[in-house]
Amino acid sequence: MNLLPLLTERFNAAIRSAFPNVEQLAEVTESTNAAFGDYQCNSAMKLAKPLGMPPHKVAQQLLAHVDLLGVVKEAEIKGPGFINLTLEKEFLNSQLNKAYEDPRLGIPLPDQKKRIVVEFSSPNIAKEMHVGHLRSTIIGDSLAKIFSELGHEVIRLNHVGDWGTQFGMLIHYIKQEHPHLLDGKERATLPELMRWYRAAKGCFDADASFKKSSQEEVVLLQGGDDKSLKTWEMICEISRQGYQEIYDLLNIELVERGESFYNDELPIIVADLKAKGLLEHSEGANCVFVDKYKNREGNPQPLIVQKSDGGYTYATTDLAALRHRIRDEKANQIIYVVDQGQSLHFNLVFDVAKRAGYYDPYKTSVNHVPFGLVLGADGKKFRTRSGDTERLIDLLTESTNRANEILAEKNPDMDPSQRANLANTLGLSAVKYADLSVHRSSDYQFSYDKMLKFEGNTAAFILYSYVRIQGIKRQADIQSIPNVPFTLSHLQELNLAKKLLQFPDTLAAAAQDLAPNRITDYLFTLAETFNAFFRDCRVVNDPHQDIRLKLCDMTARTLEKGLSLLGIKTVSKM
Ligand code: ARG
Repeated sequence: MNLLPLLTERFNAAIRSAFPNVEQLAEVTESTNAAFGDYQCNSAMKLAKPLGMPPHKVAQQLLAHVDLLGVVKEAEIKGPGFINLTLEKEFLNSQLNKAYEDPRLGIPLPDQKKRIVVEFSSPNIAKEMHVGHLRSTIIGDSLAKIFSELGHEVIRLNHVGDWGTQFGMLIHYIKQEHPHLLDGKERATLPELMRWYRAAKGCFDADASFKKSSQEEVVLLQGGDDKSLKTWEMICEISRQGYQEIYDLLNIELVERGESFYNDELPIIVADLKAKGLLEHSEGANCVFVDKYKNREGNPQPLIVQKSDGGYTYATTDLAALRHRIRDEKANQIIYVVDQGQSLHFNLVFDVAKRAGYYDPYKTSVNHVPFGLVLGADGKKFRTRSGDTERLIDLLTESTNRANEILAEKNPDMDPSQRANLANTLGLSAVKYADLSVHRSSDYQFSYDKMLKFEGNTAAFILYSYVRIQGIKRQADIQSIPNVPFTLSHLQELNLAKKLLQFPDTLAAAAQDLAPNRITDYLFTLAETFNAFFRDCRVVNDPHQDIRLKLCDMTARTLEKGLSLLGIKTVSKM
């Protein structure tokens, strides 16, 4: 049961009955400060203008019409016209009883189940995944988990960059320098591949004849030439193993559907844009101009769908992918978790797709979910000491190693293999949590020290709170918690109950805003609220032991579920 929609609905009804001539939806929020009650309705200020009434009067009218019986104990008008609401104790107890019994912790199933494509990670073949792909992978996985938990069908797609001119260059280089690899009997390694990629790029930029041959190689590849295709497959396979290592480490599942998947559709897309009168010829290329977005000279931005050499582009592929996801995959929502540097690209693609009739915004929602940069201690783009972009695998290993050191210091008696296991979980969780706990559109500074701290808004703090509750349950030394109904009355008990009951609304908000940091914020305050409760309320050997243990249990379940939505597993000891 979500409390926000319940209160909002009550105030909607009040607006309709008090002011039948205005059309406005009520605005109810969680209070940010306990001094303002648990929730507040802020509608009076907005209604005052159209009604030509002072907000305070509007608030009085609303209170006269709103039905809050059995839900709200106290509704008070404060300031210009805020209505502060404090929930009724009996209501909290009965809501918590229901949520406790519910294996879903009160998270409702949707009226209408949606099919949602979440596209994330999407590294480029022959290049190593780097820290830039880390955010996409972690944020995308979390969003996919949130939508699944809310009862939707989620398709997780990895739009791997496995097609395009860079392959011409690389295949040509391999044919020239390492021809023995072409029969497919022997395989190169990923580091080799990346070295060759850099070398090939160097030749491509410096040597006109190499460039020409590379371009011819692209044509061969796209035409389905056997040798070229085999080399391409080898390159993809080697890269794929590199990514898989990281996905396994992070425990992330993805369906690979790379750019090459849409290859046959590309000429069809261009012909279709032409038939629809959208295509324009400009400097030898075929483009669609988008008026809404202007370049520096103030002219409409072009979306290039076919280059002067006849080749198709990244954008053509995205148009084909969008069409496929809606027309064939029947998605109701598509989410692209891609860095904010590509915002213009997506804006143009979405606009052209609308005009071409591939996507109707009234039927499908399509969102680019942009995210900011990962910065180093110097405030610049995160790099290794050698100046290269940090390799993801090194970064994850480093975090795990440091977690191991910290644990060894904190707990020298722990069995080394158990410690290594825990360090693995902690190191990876710390990286995920640190990434998810800042709003995705902000850049954030990567700091092992900060993310591995045991206090503050970190994975370790939340995990530790969970472990602590397990300890309390062990201390009580009972087979199972007697299921007596909640009859909470202590202030800290009630505070914790209110926080627990906000979990379903938190998930809804995270899905609505496509922002997993809503969940980390929530878990952090939940853990703090729990600590305050545990400081002031004795649990074991107290007359209230049963209901307090139930509160502990409900907190642990909520922490566990919340962490799982961030891709983080709980641990039993720390
Ligand atoms: N491969 C691209 C890159 O690494 C990201 C792909 C984003 N997705 C898309 N549909 N264009 O920059």
